Amino acid sequence: MVKWRDSFSVGIAEVDREHMELINIFNEIHQLKQDRLRLDKFDGIIEILGRLSDYTVRHFETEETIMQRYNYPEYAQHKKEHEDFMAQVNNIDVSQIDFEQDSYLRGIMDYVGNWLCDHILDSDRRMGDYVCAVK
Ligand SMILES: [Fe+2]
Repeated sequence: MVKWRDSFSVGIAEVDREHMELINIFNEIHQLKQDRLRLDKFDGIIEILGRLSDYTVRHFETEETIMQRYNYPEYAQHKKEHEDFMAQVNNIDVSQIDFEQDSYLRGIMDYVGNWLCDHILDSDRRMGDYVCAVK
C-alpha cells in the first residue's frame, strides 16, 4: 500500500490529482490480493495492472506537456525516466503472475510502488518547484 502524504504534493493541482489516482489504482491491487473471499484473483490483477499502465501513459503525457509548456530544462532527462519505467512495466510477464508465484507479483508491486514514491518525491517535485517559480 502507498498512502498519500503531503510531501507528495508537487504544487500543480492537475499533477497531484493524477498522482492520487495512480496511487488509488496501485492500492487496488493490494486490496484484491488481500481479499480472502475472492479466489479468482488473476484476471482482476491483470485488469488493474492494465488500467494502471494506461493511466500512467496518460499521466506522463500530462507532465510532459506541462514541462514543454514551461521550457523545463530537465525535460529530456525526466521524459527518459518515464520511458524507462514504461519499458519495465511493458516487460511484465503476466503469465508468471499466478498464486504459485506470489513473489513475482510482490516484486512487481515493490518496484512500481517504490518507483512511484521516489519519482514523485524527487523528479516530479523538482519539476513542480520550477513550474511554480516561472508561471
Ligand atoms: Fe514524472
